[in-house]
Amino acid sequence: MSALKTATLATIVLLTSASISYADERYPRIQDEVVLKECGECHMAFQPQMLPGRSWVKIMNTLGDHFGEDASLDMATAQHIETHLAENAADAGWFSGKFMRGIKGAMIPLRITETPYWVREHNEEVHPQAWSDPKIKSKANCVACHGEAERGYYDDD
Ligand code: HEC
Ligand code: HEC
Repeated sequence: MSALKTATLATIVLLTSASISYADERYPRIQDEVVLKECGECHMAFQPQMLPGRSWVKIMNTLGDHFGEDASLDMATAQHIETHLAENAADAGWFSGKFMRGIKGAMIPLRITETPYWVREHNEEVHPQAWSDPKIKSKANCVACHGEAERGYYDDD
C-alpha cells in the first residue's frame, strides 16, 4: 500500500512541477521566418512577450538609428515584423505578462534589459562581476547565460 501511495504522490509532484515550470519559464519560440531572419542577424531574435506593444512600435519606427546601428528595412518587411511583435507583446490580449510588471502607462522601454522585471530577476541572481566578463560583454547577450534562450527557455541554471 505504501509503495502505491508513494508512486501516486511522486506522479502528482512530477505533474505539478512540470506544468508550473512550463507556465513560468517558457516563452514561445518565434516561428515567424521574417522576424527570425531580420531581427536575429546581429543578436538573437528577442521574444515579443518581453516588451509592451508600444515599445515594439517605437523600435520598428526608429530602425535607422537602432542602438547606434542602421537596421533599416523596407516598409513592407518592417510592417510585417511590427504586426507580429505587437500581436505577441507583453500586453497583448487580456493577459499582461510578467514583463509588464512595474511598467507605468507612460513608460516605453526600448530595452528588455531595462524593464523592471528583467532588472529585478537579474539583480537578485547575477553576480555584478558577471557583467564585465569578456565572454558576456552585454546584458543583451542572453545566450551567453541562457543557452536555450532562442527556444524560449530561461530557467536553465
Ligand atoms: C544591424 C544589426 C541589428 C539588427 C539587424 C537588429 N538589431 Fe536589435 N540591436 C542591435 C544592437 C547593436 C543592439 C544593442 C546590443 C547591446 O546593447 O549589447 C540591439 C538591441 C536590441 C534590443 C534591446 C536589447 C536589450 O538590451 O534588452 C532590442 C529589443 C532589439 N535590438 C530589437 C531588434 C529587432 C526587433 C530587430 C529586427 C527588426 C533588430 N533588433 C535588428 C543591432 C541590431
Ligand atoms: C550574465 C548572465 C545572464 C545574462 C547575460 C542574461 N541572463 Fe537572464 N538570468 C540569469 C540568471 C542567473 C537568472 C536567474 C536564474 C534562472 O532563473 O535561471 C536569470 C533569469 C532570467 C529570467 C527569469 C527566468 C525564470 O525563472 O522565470 C528571464 C525571463 C531572463 N533571465 C531573461 C533574460 C533575457 C531575455 C536576457 C537577454 C536580454 C538575459 N536573461 C540575459 C543570467 C543571465
